[in-house]
Amino acid sequence: MSQQAENLIAVLDAGSSKTRVLVAELNEGALRYRGHGIVDAAGMRKGMVAELLPAVEAIDRAATLAEQRAEAVIERCVIAVGGPHVRGVNSRGGISLGARMREITREDVKAAVDRARSVSLPNDREVMHLLPQQFVLDDQAGIHDPVGMVGSRLEVNLHISTCSGSAIQSIVTCANKAGLEVTESVFEGIAAAEATISADERELGVCLIDIGASSTELIVFFEGSVAHTSVIPIGGDHFTNDLAVGLHVTPPEAEWVKCEYGNAVVTAVPQVSEIELRGMPGFEPRMVRQRLVGEILEPRARELFHMLRDNLRQGGVLEALGAGCVMTGGGARLPGLLDVAESLLRVPARIGSPVPLSRMPEELQQPECAALIGTLLYSHRTSVIRAAEDHSLRAKLRAIFAGSL
Ligand SMILES: Nc1ncnc2c1ncn2[C@@H]1O[C@H](COP(=O)(O)OP(=O)(O)OP(=O)(O)O)[C@@H](O)[C@H]1O
Ligand SMILES: [Mg+2]
Repeated sequence: MSQQAENLIAVLDAGSSKTRVLVAELNEGALRYRGHGIVDAAGMRKGMVAELLPAVEAIDRAATLAEQRAEAVIERCVIAVGGPHVRGVNSRGGISLGARMREITREDVKAAVDRARSVSLPNDREVMHLLPQQFVLDDQAGIHDPVGMVGSRLEVNLHISTCSGSAIQSIVTCANKAGLEVTESVFEGIAAAEATISADERELGVCLIDIGASSTELIVFFEGSVAHTSVIPIGGDHFTNDLAVGLHVTPPEAEWVKCEYGNAVVTAVPQVSEIELRGMPGFEPRMVRQRLVGEILEPRARELFHMLRDNLRQGGVLEALGAGCVMTGGGARLPGLLDVAESLLRVPARIGSPVPLSRMPEELQQPECAALIGTLLYSHRTSVIRAAEDHSLRAKLRAIFAGSL
């Protein structure tokens, strides 16, 4: 049986509404689209596996579609992880470099990061990302890369992104049962930011808001580093459920109404228009004011952004959004949501469309695919950095041994 080609990278985003798989090819440092599969999710609730078998089947279907399009076999994947079980904490720690000042090595940086990460985490927490914010060398703060600088004490401010060990293990188990080995996991917020946010925005201060089906992941960058990550337990499906209850229709009809007529700003909905609803089974179709849809959606949108504002304030980053906010995820498509974001967060807001891979079909260049594409970009970029670090370490060792001969 054939094996996955070395230059193929596959990513899996097992979301609450869609299961997505993307395959790309790495050629001379450039990523090129090869194939994708997107199917309705099954067995997932709040970013976690609720029923194993349907989740495995959905992953299998998405992966098979991606393999057919890519005309290749995939056996390994990087997964995107989101949901309310993901948390972020800031920590600080450091090391003394001895009595005399000396040059900082990559190993010193690793040791300082290890010290900063040794905060006591609750049981069942698994570390997904260790993200240095800034290094402090003796009295000098604001250093991004201290390797090669000279000092006697190195400290680091670190952002630690963690998730529930059992939640991530369930996704890994599902992927394994669908024939995919999981090589790495990436927080959906980091991934969506990777695909949509520029270096200038990260420097100025920006909040990425990924509104999925069951939750909203957020990540704030300031002065080029991750300052805050969090998850709000409200997503697009809460808007749909409100419509289902408020209009007395089935969830599928509520979803249709939201996508066709939804608006998060009541006054933007025409006052005189009416829409015909089929209603619950056994009831006659009836006409309702279109404005009613906005009247139901606006309070939910305001609740989401109130919670976001409180979360950003508690994280100490509400005033740090010089470049505003960027919204991704299918939930960001709701008309009027940008206005609600701008009025409650008091910063400019835009929709984030992921940067396209070469030859990527347009259907993937949508805000709901930002986390999928960003997982691929993040995994590739960090592997390039790791390879460069390994290479420079090997070169140093070679130089040491060459000198000792
Ligand atoms: N045109 C639209 N208008 C409003 N909402 C939309 C539109 N299209 C999709 N949505 C909503 O987007 C949500 C799905 O978004 P997305 O595909 O990003 O979720 P997911 O990644 O599967 O879920 P999660 O990230 O929460 O696990 C659904 O709630 C859906 O109703
Ligand atoms: Mg998602």
